[in-house]
Amino acid sequence: MTYSGLQKDLQQLDVTLPMSDDLSVLAKRLTFAGLSVPNRFVVQPMEGFDSGTDGEPLELGFRRYERFAAGGAGLIWFEATAVRWDARSNEQQFWINEKSVGKFAELLEHTRSTAHKEDGHDIVTVLQLTHSGRYSKPQRGKRKPVIAQHSGVLDAAHGIAGDYPLISDAELDRLQDDYVSAAKLAARAGFDGIDVKSCHGYLLNELLGAHTRDGKYGGAFENRTRFLRETIQRIAEEVPGVFVTSRLSVYDAVKYPWGFGTDKEDYRKHDLTEPKQLASLLQKAGVPLLNITIGNPYFNPHYNRPYAKAASGTAAYDEHPLRGVVRFVNIVRDMQQSFNGAENTVPMIGAGTAWLRERIPKVAAGIIASGGAALFGQGRSSFAYPNAPRDILTRGGMDAKQVCVACSGCTNFMRAEHPAGCCVRDRKFY
Ligand SMILES: Cc1cc2nc3c(=O)[nH]c(=O)nc-3n(C[C@H](O)[C@H](O)[C@H](O)COP(=O)(O)O)c2cc1C
Repeated sequence: MTYSGLQKDLQQLDVTLPMSDDLSVLAKRLTFAGLSVPNRFVVQPMEGFDSGTDGEPLELGFRRYERFAAGGAGLIWFEATAVRWDARSNEQQFWINEKSVGKFAELLEHTRSTAHKEDGHDIVTVLQLTHSGRYSKPQRGKRKPVIAQHSGVLDAAHGIAGDYPLISDAELDRLQDDYVSAAKLAARAGFDGIDVKSCHGYLLNELLGAHTRDGKYGGAFENRTRFLRETIQRIAEEVPGVFVTSRLSVYDAVKYPWGFGTDKEDYRKHDLTEPKQLASLLQKAGVPLLNITIGNPYFNPHYNRPYAKAASGTAAYDEHPLRGVVRFVNIVRDMQQSFNGAENTVPMIGAGTAWLRERIPKVAAGIIASGGAALFGQGRSSFAYPNAPRDILTRGGMDAKQVCVACSGCTNFMRAEHPAGCCVRDRKFY
């Protein structure tokens, strides 16, 4: 797959992607919140579903982060970690609590020291805190959905009956306390940043689009964004020594009134008016960095992770994956460019480019050089080819024999409640 082939595909689809031959922009430091990221590469959060009974990282988790750290990325965004046992999407999802926090501290120390040993890098680290909402499955094979609103689209897709109870306002109030407690533990473990995850159809993302919910957490924009805003505010006030951020879905591609960032007439179009308003409020609350994402991997994975082969059980979409890549890149660019001014800079990170394979480097450089994002995030590629950042920075390219082939194998593992990794490039382990 060559760059000229990519140019041809882009022309045929009548879309564009920024590209730059000068990769040096990817080696530049980025400073924010008093921290310095040694280059522009981010390992996006990638769940391995391989924790112990108390949610603590075990050998496979240590191996995953050692590989990420040795690969040369400047920022590692640690995977979705439940704030309570029943908030997990899988019995083996990471879960931070009094019993497991010591192992998180060890994992972090090992990750930091590996990066330091390999490259002399002092990496920046973020822990993603999650509640899996309608995708909660804290015990093997037993779904335990927690929903913020009934959805005319998602209920049917996931077998949720019309009379299934909603999480109450009082329970949501208590859940804020769980986020604050988990953030305190994450700070104790030593993470630089806390991500109040609000994406991919999980509970906090669902709240953002809860147009049909009554009460203080639903309906008007102020109410739908309340949980995220208040939780971030509380962590900022009650947990010293860490910065607070969010991985934020800005376009669910779910029909109005059941999604966020979606055009009211046509769910296939995004409307970033509210996401920009929210980003502005978060910035005012002191959020120094945002990780921007789109789509729901359970419902419309071609938005979230354009692929060459669909995950098992997913309806195939008649869309060229390159369209998906371009959509994701353009939406992140639109968000970033609204926050690029002298007064209101918020560095942002995107994702969704794994399908480009070895043609990633020039696109990554093009995105950063043209102000389409401040950092370049990689998800599936980090599983397949964790050394990609080093190869791009030191050799000017990626090895075609190591790239992610976007086969959805790692997603299939997740769906099968099996530890997740790359079944193509890391076969011995997965
Ligand atoms: C196996 C797997 C696990 C993932 N785990 C997480 C996660 O823990 N948190 C999160 O925000 N996104 C998660 N994602 C989404 C990725 O971070 C990323 O956004 C997505 O794969 C698209 O980017 P890419 O093209 O670079 O892979 C996961 C994706 C896969 C395939």
